[in-house]
Amino acid sequence: MLLQSVNLFNTNNNYPVSKPYSPRVSCPKLAPLKQDTVSFSGAISKSVDLLDLPADKIIKICKKAIKDNFVIGEGQEAIAIKIPDYPYYCIRHEKKGKQKTKQLGLDMKLDKYDKVNHVVAHLSPDTQLMRYIPGIPLKIMHHSDTTSGIKVKQALQELVANNFPEESFKNVLKQVEEAKEKGIDFDRFGENLLVDPISQNLTCIDFSPNFKMEEYNPISFIYHAIDADKTEHAPKILGKLCNAYAQRLLEVPAKKLNLDKLDTTFHARGFEGDPFNYFPDRNLLKETETRLKELIAEKQNPTLHENGFEYMVEMFKEFIEENLINYKKPPYEFF
Ligand SMILES: Nc1ncnc2c1ncn2[C@@H]1O[C@H](COP(=O)(O)OP(=O)(O)O)[C@@H](O)[C@H]1O
Ligand SMILES: [Mg+2]
Repeated sequence: MLLQSVNLFNTNNNYPVSKPYSPRVSCPKLAPLKQDTVSFSGAISKSVDLLDLPADKIIKICKKAIKDNFVIGEGQEAIAIKIPDYPYYCIRHEKKGKQKTKQLGLDMKLDKYDKVNHVVAHLSPDTQLMRYIPGIPLKIMHHSDTTSGIKVKQALQELVANNFPEESFKNVLKQVEEAKEKGIDFDRFGENLLVDPISQNLTCIDFSPNFKMEEYNPISFIYHAIDADKTEHAPKILGKLCNAYAQRLLEVPAKKLNLDKLDTTFHARGFEGDPFNYFPDRNLLKETETRLKELIAEKQNPTLHENGFEYMVEMFKEFIEENLINYKKPPYEFF
């Protein structure tokens, strides 16, 4: 988001330099901060939840936020705006929106599409009140092709590859699967996947019912949004996604996994910029795909005892750990 990107790209370090630590100064004992008194902007937030306020007050606060126009993120069609003092919400406003700010209202009726997209209310046909999702998009609009933009993306990829636990990958795969169950597809681009280095959450923020894709693959969708290229992060990230998916195959009943809509090939058909085209080891990619297909086929049409499937998943994970998560680039070959 631009809020973070402003900080990330700010080279003008006018921050006060902290005083050296003095052991003689005794620190007062502070009561732990309650979560709802902490704001991501550093300001003290209002402890009342925005949605608990009367409608006219909510509208007034949102109008003011739109007027202040503190942009925290931008996509092709919309911008996300901060709401001062209410850090758990933001406003998504379509750039081409025709509705005048004065005409905002509050409509709490939500459809399944809104719920998937973190919308909590409609302020106008082109303005939504949303839950604020903490994190940095992998593609920061206006900076994505700059040297510093690429560095930010690679630093995030490195964090995701090396530090994020299986749980984070399981959760984001679940998010894509549950949306698909409702007929809604993730718009699989970097600006739509927020990476939170603090909570280690990966969250998709932009889903659409308009893609109408017959087939999908949650692993490919997230891999596509993370957009790792030839680096060592690519096999690690794919490995973690595959292990998380295998774990879901073990834990979740087949009917909840959309297996009939699953495209078991990783490559997105007709996608020129498909990051799988840049995967550093083609044979390894094919082998992983084949092994995963076997696992999915067994889940769809079980031939083994339950323990047999558990063992299959274990073997799959061992392969992934050895070959993808611990992937080492072959030494440079001279010719
Ligand atoms: N709920 C949210 N929480 C935090 N940031 C958001 C949220 N929704 C959108 N953003 C930010 O705004 C940008 C644009 O939002 P998005 O809904 O993806 O618009 P578009 O339809 O133009 O792609 C995102 O890339 C993200 O940086
Ligand atoms: Mg978007």
